[in-house]
Amino acid sequence: MDRIAITGGVPLHGEIAISGAKNSAIKLMAASLLTDEPLRLTNMPRLADTRFLGRLLQRLGTELVEQTGEAGAETVLHTREIVSGIAPYDLVRQMRASFNVLGPLIARTGQAKVSLPGGCTIGARPVDLHLEALRALGATIDLHEGYVYAQAPRGLSGAEIRFPFVSVGATEHTLLAAVLARGQTVLHNAAAEPEIEDLAVCLNAMGARISGAGTSSLVIEGVDRLHGTTHAVIPDRIETGTYALAAAMAGGEVRLTATRSDFIAALLDRMEEAGVGVERHEDGVTIRRGPERLRAVEIETDPYPGFATDLQAQFMALMTLADGESVIRETIFENRFMHAPELSRLGADISVSGGEARVRGVEALEGAQVMATDLRASVSLVIAGLAARGETVVNRVYHLDRGFERLEAKLSACGARIHRIVGDGDPED
Ligand code: EPZ
Repeated sequence: MDRIAITGGVPLHGEIAISGAKNSAIKLMAASLLTDEPLRLTNMPRLADTRFLGRLLQRLGTELVEQTGEAGAETVLHTREIVSGIAPYDLVRQMRASFNVLGPLIARTGQAKVSLPGGCTIGARPVDLHLEALRALGATIDLHEGYVYAQAPRGLSGAEIRFPFVSVGATEHTLLAAVLARGQTVLHNAAAEPEIEDLAVCLNAMGARISGAGTSSLVIEGVDRLHGTTHAVIPDRIETGTYALAAAMAGGEVRLTATRSDFIAALLDRMEEAGVGVERHEDGVTIRRGPERLRAVEIETDPYPGFATDLQAQFMALMTLADGESVIRETIFENRFMHAPELSRLGADISVSGGEARVRGVEALEGAQVMATDLRASVSLVIAGLAARGETVVNRVYHLDRGFERLEAKLSACGARIHRIVGDGDPED
């Protein structure tokens, strides 16, 4: 198992180009199941998660070609026909969002058998809202032996669906099914994350009729068929926020390019409150941080445009060195403070009670061996390592590879002393 070693205390200076959004790319890839024509996705991140989903799509009948175009990495997905409607446990387990192939499979072929994804380290993460929405669209859903058996032999029909709370995955999944349903579907209390708007823009370019994306109400007029298109994946807002926090943690000046500062407005506001220099540009943002100590500020995670739960761990890392006490409330996931005890191994002073963490800033962190249980938690430890005295070694690096493209290369290009220790065996794994 690979590890990442960081020698802290070196300020970052330079430029980092942000990759395409993981959480957009994987839903866009699933959209390719809805048409027998090729879907060309540009600005594609090359990540373990896109590879996992690619493997599943190939099993279902998608021809997948990865190539380099004028604007960088591209993936062309072509599903002439669905050769299997079965998404097995071993492939869905590797990446939860694979579950989202269920909707497109029913929409295109009238049936599917897809493994339930199960829980994960940040919480139980049920899919009841996804299944209720598919039922509302007319699918018959049965659960047996860990699998969802879905049928809609006469196709799906539009429906009015009110989500009891905001779910990114359920909103996307319902969109992916409703575009080919007969008649109109209206979604109330839908998620408004930029990745949903990106999916809607791509589906509309494929011939779908979706309006309201980016707001809490979506209207979908079903169409008979979709066609191919070329679509550029939006920049990854979580990668953008993560490097912004890395620069704030290590000090120095870093310009983040090929991205959008408005996607992380809630984060940048909090960073400015804490005393970080933030300069927004047309194509990104510059982060500046001098030697002065930052102020502790409070955050609460919320659906977009609120503070993203996927940036909570990284923000906590920043607050470990701030002056005063920061209260961090996690409202999206039930168990998303697994990074707190690991940050404490580096000398942070954090206490967690239910969905609330109290971080009392310390003068300095000290490098140690740490291990994390999910993607964003892992990268919070890397960020902390950039500021800790001495060497920090982050174990279980495979989490990072799921969602951060060329992390070590991007950080070392700005002067960070970070390198990968390849597969020297980790008794913990
Ligand atoms: C997406 O997960 C992202 N994943 C997550 O990023 C992100 O943290 C999350 O949205 C919130 O922004 C992908 O896009 C692949 P939800 P998703 O449905 O869609 C509960 C990362 O690190 N819920 O909005 O699964 C659920 O348990 C990942 O890249 C139900 O109870 O999130 C959670 O508490 C981690 N029943 C809350 O809703 C359901 O049917 C919000 O989850 C669906 C969700």
